Amino acid sequence: MAAMESDKLPSHFLNHAVVPAQSNRRRRVSTALLLLGIPLFILIQAVLTFHSQSPRTSSIPIHASKTLQKCRHLHTKPNPPPDFNLRKQSDRFVPGTRATLLRNATIWTGGIKGFEIVEGDLLLDQGLIKAVGRVDTSVLEVYKTDLVVMDLEGAWVTPGIVDLHSHLGVDSAPELRGSSDTNSVKGIAQPWLRSVDGLNTHDEAYLLSIAGGVTTAVVLPGSADAIGGQAFAIKLRPTKERSASSMLLEPPFFLNGSDVDPALPPRWRQMKHACGENPSRVYSGTRMDTIWSFRESYNKARMIKESQDEYCSKATTGQWEGLGEFPEDLQWEALVDVLRGRVKIQTHCYEATDLDGLLSNEFQFPIAAFHHASEAYLVPDLLKNAYGKITFPSSVDDDFIDFAEHAPAVALFATNGRYKREAYRASEFAPRILADNGLKVVMKSDHPVLNSRYLLYEAQQAHYYGLRGNLALASVTSTPAVVMGADHRLGFIKAGYDADIVAWDSHPLALGATPKQVWIDGISQIDSPFSSQKPASFQKPPATPDFDQEAYEAIKYDGLPPLQMRQPKSDVVIFINVANLFVRRQGSIHEVYSGAGVESTRTVVVKNGVIVCDGSEPTCERNYDGINAEWMDLEGGSLSPGLISFGSPLAMEDIQGEPSTRDGTVHDLFHGDSPKIIEDSVIRAADGLQFAVRDTLYAYQAGVMTGISAPSSRGFLSGLSTVFATGAGHKLEKGAVVQEIAALHVKIGHYSSSPSVSTQIAALRKLLGGGAIGELGARFKEVAKGEMTLAVAVESADIMSSLIKLKQEVETQTGSDLRLTFTGASEAHIIAQELGKNQIGVILTRPRPFPMTWESRRILPGLPLSKDNAITVLLSHNVTVGIGIEEQWSARNTRFDVAWAALEAHGEISKAEALALASVNIEKLLGVKSGHSHGDLVATRGGTLLDFQSRVVGLISSGRGVVDLV
Ligand SMILES: *[C@@H]1O[C@H](CO)[C@@H](O)[C@H](O)[C@H]1NC(C)=O
Ligand SMILES: *[C@@H]1O[C@H](CO)[C@@H](O)[C@H](O)[C@H]1NC(C)=O
Ligand SMILES: *[C@@H]1O[C@H](CO)[C@@H](O)[C@H](O)[C@H]1NC(C)=O
Repeated sequence: MAAMESDKLPSHFLNHAVVPAQSNRRRRVSTALLLLGIPLFILIQAVLTFHSQSPRTSSIPIHASKTLQKCRHLHTKPNPPPDFNLRKQSDRFVPGTRATLLRNATIWTGGIKGFEIVEGDLLLDQGLIKAVGRVDTSVLEVYKTDLVVMDLEGAWVTPGIVDLHSHLGVDSAPELRGSSDTNSVKGIAQPWLRSVDGLNTHDEAYLLSIAGGVTTAVVLPGSADAIGGQAFAIKLRPTKERSASSMLLEPPFFLNGSDVDPALPPRWRQMKHACGENPSRVYSGTRMDTIWSFRESYNKARMIKESQDEYCSKATTGQWEGLGEFPEDLQWEALVDVLRGRVKIQTHCYEATDLDGLLSNEFQFPIAAFHHASEAYLVPDLLKNAYGKITFPSSVDDDFIDFAEHAPAVALFATNGRYKREAYRASEFAPRILADNGLKVVMKSDHPVLNSRYLLYEAQQAHYYGLRGNLALASVTSTPAVVMGADHRLGFIKAGYDADIVAWDSHPLALGATPKQVWIDGISQIDSPFSSQKPASFQKPPATPDFDQEAYEAIKYDGLPPLQMRQPKSDVVIFINVANLFVRRQGSIHEVYSGAGVESTRTVVVKNGVIVCDGSEPTCERNYDGINAEWMDLEGGSLSPGLISFGSPLAMEDIQGEPSTRDGTVHDLFHGDSPKIIEDSVIRAADGLQFAVRDTLYAYQAGVMTGISAPSSRGFLSGLSTVFATGAGHKLEKGAVVQEIAALHVKIGHYSSSPSVSTQIAALRKLLGGGAIGELGARFKEVAKGEMTLAVAVESADIMSSLIKLKQEVETQTGSDLRLTFTGASEAHIIAQELGKNQIGVILTRPRPFPMTWESRRILPGLPLSKDNAITVLLSHNVTVGIGIEEQWSARNTRFDVAWAALEAHGEISKAEALALASVNIEKLLGVKSGHSHGDLVATRGGTLLDFQSRVVGLISSGRGVVDLV
């Protein structure tokens, strides 16, 4: 067989290419096979050229020209083709796509360091941006009627959002056992793995993320391994081919889907690295083991690279004698490419020690970005002194921000932190501190860790905490494009760039900014977008508060600034320039007063944590003239009831990933693992409360004055929730525990160790029917008699329906109303009418929904994909709705969650009603009795609690009888 193929070689080949004498027959065959693929004339020419250059050579192998080409190629740096921006058509252009003219847009181009704003038109054609600003009528005449024209009426337009860290497609939604393709745990260093090989083309998140303006994502392997594999950039739009490869953006040489000419410089490749806790955990090792795995792997790659270089230096000088085959190894070629400076290394790495460990490596390769990097802001100089001034020209260098050019970028979450030791010092001020140091800041989703649909919200929060507006917008557009090496076509609005465009319903840094439409490769992505009228002030970037002192303290205290607040110097606090006053009244929230600007503000007097004068009488402050009161100017701010957080283990744990910092998990009723002594007990969260935990204090300082937590469980029975004051220093302080026991909590659904759903419902039926003894029996009896609320964590509308039937069954037997609340409840909107009829309320712990699991997949996505969302639908059926959270770090963002809900409700939710969603409604839904916390008030400066312009400056607790000031 081999002999036969070898015989097919044309004889004149053999005449020119002399096979080295020592070469055996097998080698000759493989060489011949290589040659067969190359057009004849190129070869002959190449070999002739070679001959003329190296007359001394005695024996030139048959693969000489190919090898020499390879040698030359080793040193070419990734770059777009020289004439790339003169292209007339995108390689991703879909024939038949009509040209589009966007008229009257306010365009943030990304240019001039993110300060350029062009008012005018945008012409998209051939998958490209053809013109920005003024479009000549002569240009338009070409299109005649074949032009889609859209009047944006001045709307803000930005480049499509670029997510530098995503697991779209590899960790796809809904999560199924068959779709977990993020991590391989077959080895700690596997540079040969490729995320594209697991890319699910049916991830429901593609469209959802597009609906948030995301157009491009770098799909990274996970962080289980030190070297997790190669990452690939995709565009999120569906393709005609319906293939994974057709979604790729500029795949490196070996994949098809976007034209790549091997004669041109290579494309950038991307690779995932990880250090710190994840690889340690997965491989039962330590940081030392992980760093060794890097060193060992890179050492292998270095040896291959050196032998290649040596080989090539001989080959190019004609010393073929004894050279043999070009040294390479498919497993390590990507890592060799790293050493050749052709791979963007995206490194999951948190702590100073880890950053140091990677940067001080002896292998000298640049790192594109440190992701998560929660301690980077504490060691900016470490990053600035990193190896590898990246000297490859960036097409927009002049236009862009004067960074510490060569230093790795830092890709962050805005406020998600403290979930493990290495994230414990995460700071909301990190983006601005890093930017102040000239480092590149990227906000990323780590989708589905954060839903990338709301990646822009990360940039908005970074802006709120001090990152300048130009950099905040760049952090999800231009900067990631630069960091991934795609700034020749992405991240900017410039003629010749990809037509990836988002038109927004408000300024993109305004809370809740939502796309009116999204174009990818010039193709509009949302069929019939819905929108909501935003307040006029939302067309401007929010004027954010001054957090300079806090940012300074974050550094001063090595990432753990004390979160204590100041006590007023008097028991009388006089708030002046109060523009809005909201108070609780009969189970709802009322706006007592809404000033229309600083000139019509009021003065509110608080004594011993209670309002003694609400400003309705203009003279009230005079009563306090001359006394030694504490005066606070709210500058047009507000006083409003404290918010309540429910849904996470707030105050039940400090660091999620550290068992020794948590209350822990209750025994599983279904696995008989309860020790006899507590068999018939019901666990009380109150017994496990931990005060002065950082997440709780952050929540407190953001106006969440009360928390409600249930015991953590793996499924079914959880226990009794408790109501506590987030600002309390310890449990025995006055008012620390607001209500020892609130509701009885169970979970019904598919949890790791649970039996069938129907078994779980059978168990609930039995418990409600008096089938248990001891405290367990007694508590369920209380529930059956309607004396205690039963809160069921449940996602699926089918399970909720079965529970409604069960409620009716029990009520028929007992003759009392069963107080039932669903929490989680992603699919509640499907049965909104029945929920209303049966007086079942809902706490949505994912108010902006995501089809995370099969049970929660039937979401109502909301704007711009649907006019309504679960909140508006439930409210319209008179269902009491509360807004909760899932993870305790996000308790601090409750005020923005409820504000956002109001912004998407087409005017159906007032500010007072928005505040109710995370206060009085939750109390109602979890059986919190009126009492202690009812006088709680939050003072904000510069706006209401719902605004990005404001910050919390005071917390007035009637229950604890204290006022805390910032
Ligand atoms: C652009 O839209 C804004 C808002 O509708 C309008 O005031 C302005 O006149 C428009 N400009 C042009 C040039 O059409
Ligand atoms: C790659 O795609 C291009 C454009 O669709 C096509 O012309 C070419 O034949 C493809 N190459 C391979 C090897 O499939
Ligand atoms: C909701 O309540 C209002 C006021 O009580 C009532 O007018 C309306 O019909 C109710 N809607 C539904 C869907 O039950």
